[in-house]
Amino acid sequence: MNPMSICTPSSSSSSSSSSSSTKAWIFHGIAVGAAVAVAIGAHAYLYLRRPGKFRTRVVGIIPARFASSRFPGKPLVQILGKPMIQRTWERAKMASSLDHVVVATDDEKIADCCRGFGADVIITSESCRNGTERCNEALQKLEKKYDIVVNIQGDEPLIEPEIIDGIVKALQGAPDAVFSTAVTSLKPEDAFDPNRVKCVVDNHGYAIYFSRGLIPFNKSANVNPQFPYLLHLGIQSYDSKFLKIYPELTPTPLQLEEDLEQLKVLENGYKMKVIKVDHEAHGVDAPEDVEKIEHFMRERNLS
Ligand SMILES: *[C@@H]1O[C@H](CO)[C@@H](O)[C@H](O)[C@H]1NC(C)=O
Ligand SMILES: *[C@@H]1O[C@H](CO)[C@@H](O)[C@H](O)[C@H]1NC(C)=O
Repeated sequence: MNPMSICTPSSSSSSSSSSSSTKAWIFHGIAVGAAVAVAIGAHAYLYLRRPGKFRTRVVGIIPARFASSRFPGKPLVQILGKPMIQRTWERAKMASSLDHVVVATDDEKIADCCRGFGADVIITSESCRNGTERCNEALQKLEKKYDIVVNIQGDEPLIEPEIIDGIVKALQGAPDAVFSTAVTSLKPEDAFDPNRVKCVVDNHGYAIYFSRGLIPFNKSANVNPQFPYLLHLGIQSYDSKFLKIYPELTPTPLQLEEDLEQLKVLENGYKMKVIKVDHEAHGVDAPEDVEKIEHFMRERNLS
């Protein structure tokens, strides 16, 4: 696959056949009422005083940049004949919880490609240092106001719309959280891969910690085949007020040690809601991953 290949948006709509397999289960099953009852933060109190439903206006933002040391032009790479960014966008459009989906990019080629297949595009500055900053800048540039921003990473072209809806509902149901994200079962062979981020959660489905190391760590120093280890998926949603301050929060010791942005949220005492989903992670990080994902899609008859 040539990552620099010219974008040729395809008009056929993406397949949804993998979606039905996703079951967002356990954690967001906590009754909204119970979550409200335990939400004591002043923040939550202010929100709850508003009449009607909570955090109702939701935007999905797909941050996309052209420059990438490992994989330049990644968003435009063709996956079974369709640019990766288009596949991600088509999946996001199927999520019922999103009022609006936009691509945020600093690159004209990406912008042209996305407009070509019908996406709304927000041009963000080249100074954005990461996807979170790009989402924040895009949020400020949007005409309408939103309560929740879903950061949909463009390198997960097989993201299920149900996962997007699941994290949105989780954040709507947990007024004391400012952030929500998803995990899936960790494969035993990934236990010691530092690029696979592990997560542990409390009884109510709030994140306790994320690590590149294996957590929890069994006393025997081996992987416990019985333990349901959790793998963090890149998708996340934020309360839009929190997103405004998130990039500005000073880096924290655990964040710096693990090189994991999300630890800054926990270290500052904010709560993060985590849902567990069934999902085969097919992130495209390097050119080699394109063939793997195409192989997977052919096997499953996804087009
Ligand atoms: C560690 O893993 C083993 C299985 O390999 C399990 O039987 C044991 O309960 C786990 N915890 C401790 C503290 O050993
Ligand atoms: C984005 O990048 C900048 C610079 O590396 C960093 O300060 C900031 O914490 C990053 N992450 C987020 C979530 O904004």
